[in-house]
Amino acid sequence: MSQETIEFHYGKHHQAYIDNLNGLIEGTDLAELPIEEVIVKAEPGPIFNNSAQAYNHSFYWQCLTTPQGESNAPSGKLAQAIDEAFTDFATFKTQFSEMASKHFGSGWAWLLVGKSGKLEMLAMHDAGTPIQDGLKPLLAVDVWEHAYYIDYRNKRPDYLAAIWQIIDWQFVESQYDATAPSSLMLPE
Ligand SMILES: [Fe+2]
Repeated sequence: MSQETIEFHYGKHHQAYIDNLNGLIEGTDLAELPIEEVIVKAEPGPIFNNSAQAYNHSFYWQCLTTPQGESNAPSGKLAQAIDEAFTDFATFKTQFSEMASKHFGSGWAWLLVGKSGKLEMLAMHDAGTPIQDGLKPLLAVDVWEHAYYIDYRNKRPDYLAAIWQIIDWQFVESQYDATAPSSLMLPE
């Protein structure tokens, strides 16, 4: 991922969502709430779109790190859960990349803890975020064109093939550890 992509994506796109959101909620009851609560309380429209995009991008940046090579992979409990849900890590990567690459239009590809407590992958449109459905995100991949157009032009699959080398699995694991079954309150 080039410096130019980061400068535009982080410095301009992400910044615009934050500036827009701050402008929209200034002086309202939402202004002092954590972003997750703003997302849940927002009606469909500009406040939802900008708060969810602000959150999704912050999450996405934390999922990324410096290039780790082809062998970059999760370990421990998360690796085990990925094997259980998707057979093995290679199959997970193939399925996730395919889902993200075929997602029509703008949106996000997520690995999350589903309602059953098992790992699931889900593509969501536009500002869609697992937070709005009370689900716990583990990994976010931005599939808006602005995420890859500078480096890969129209070739979204190439962006998705390369991104596995810069996923920060330690961050993803830390999100999963925070959702251990004992602390996860699930409805019967
Ligand atoms: Fe983005």
